[in-house]
Amino acid sequence: MYLWGSHLEGLEEFTHEFNKSIDFDKILYEEDISGSLAHVKMLSQVGIITKDDGKIILDELKNILKEIKDGELEINLKEEDIHSFIENELTNRVGDVGKKIHTARSRNDQCALDLRLYAKKVLKSIKEELLNLIQEIIELAGKNKDTIMPGFTHMQHAQVTTFAHYILSYGQMFYRDLTRLIETYNRLDENPLGSCALVTTSFNIDRFMTTDILGFKKPTENSMDSVSDRDYVLEILFNNSLIMTHLSRLCEELIYFSSSEYSYIKFSEKFSTGSSIMPQKKNPDMAELIRGKSGRCYGDLFTLFTVLKGTPQTYNKDFQEDKEPLFDSVKTVFNSLKIMKGILETLYINKEKMRISAEEGFLNATDLADYLVLKGLPFREAYSIVGQIVNFSSEKNLKLEDISLEKYKIFNEIFEEGLYEFIKIENSLKNRNVYGGPAKEAVTIQINNLKKFISKI
Ligand code: ARG
Repeated sequence: MYLWGSHLEGLEEFTHEFNKSIDFDKILYEEDISGSLAHVKMLSQVGIITKDDGKIILDELKNILKEIKDGELEINLKEEDIHSFIENELTNRVGDVGKKIHTARSRNDQCALDLRLYAKKVLKSIKEELLNLIQEIIELAGKNKDTIMPGFTHMQHAQVTTFAHYILSYGQMFYRDLTRLIETYNRLDENPLGSCALVTTSFNIDRFMTTDILGFKKPTENSMDSVSDRDYVLEILFNNSLIMTHLSRLCEELIYFSSSEYSYIKFSEKFSTGSSIMPQKKNPDMAELIRGKSGRCYGDLFTLFTVLKGTPQTYNKDFQEDKEPLFDSVKTVFNSLKIMKGILETLYINKEKMRISAEEGFLNATDLADYLVLKGLPFREAYSIVGQIVNFSSEKNLKLEDISLEKYKIFNEIFEEGLYEFIKIENSLKNRNVYGGPAKEAVTIQINNLKKFISKI
């Protein structure tokens, strides 16, 4: 039954199907009832409805909530939306008293409220998953401070690093995601209830009271903005998209690090699948799925951007299209974070293979140039000498440490025996004990700082 059915003709079945949102907004039943409970408590406190009426409504709303939760009451999907369902169910049960619930309220502030309550709830669970993932990264880094691996730029061997330093770079990304999530949470933590359709109400409601009951920081400032604002949904969709970008980049790397060409890591069988025809295959499906699912999150973000563009003040039915992208994005991010934590927890790290790989590709060429700088040459000159040495070594298929001192001296007299010690991979790492760098001490500081940052959250 439509809430507006008393004086309008009503929609034909197909149009009703097109119009309704209950198929997806049914998940907001708890938020909707919490909002109604707060609203009715306030109405009876300030004397807009009697205490007795208030009690009848509150008791029955609590029954409805319990019954839905316990699976005793099924949400009627023929209704227009979750708000209509709860209100109709209440009135069916308590009669005319139920009809008082919508005094000084509109579905416009009601749906704005429900979505904010939902946003607060899901941000808390995404926050937990982000924290779990960061903890796992910290754990992994702690175990791999000495796991030497090549660092890449342009996918080419660049300079030496460790797996700890590498994986902590993702720790920073997820930490930034966490701080963004918290900022969004703090910004959306305002109560729109009482804005009603757009210009509040002639009744003497107390918005501060419902704000307190519902646990918001404060009431929203402007009722027209309150019923039309979906900025916080966009923020969540953006934050989620960026989390997925970070996850997707990590997945991409883990996928090729696990290929036979690299063999740096192995996915646990818990996170791999087999092929239906090739018995030897172990495919990194979970990582590929996370990478793939980033696409739908970007789609969700752009869906809502496009929905909102050009909507005049204040509420427009277009806004009903805010929910499906949000629900989809939240589910995708939540699940992907959980799976990624599992992948990292069970990851096999082939230290041997990474170490061998770090000896290829002249990772210590910059160190050789630095050696010459320490001997007094200007860097650009040192760089050019080492460039020639690298060309020579490539041609002869030699590593820098394999070239004799006599040969070095042909390139430049300044070379001495000490160069060999200086360009050892271990020393190349040790010498990069700069804040933020890969040396063990510097990585330990990064781990401790990250622990400190997240403990403050
Ligand atoms: N189902 C609607 C939504 O999600 C609820 C608000 C309806 N308000 C209205 N004036 N038609 O946006």
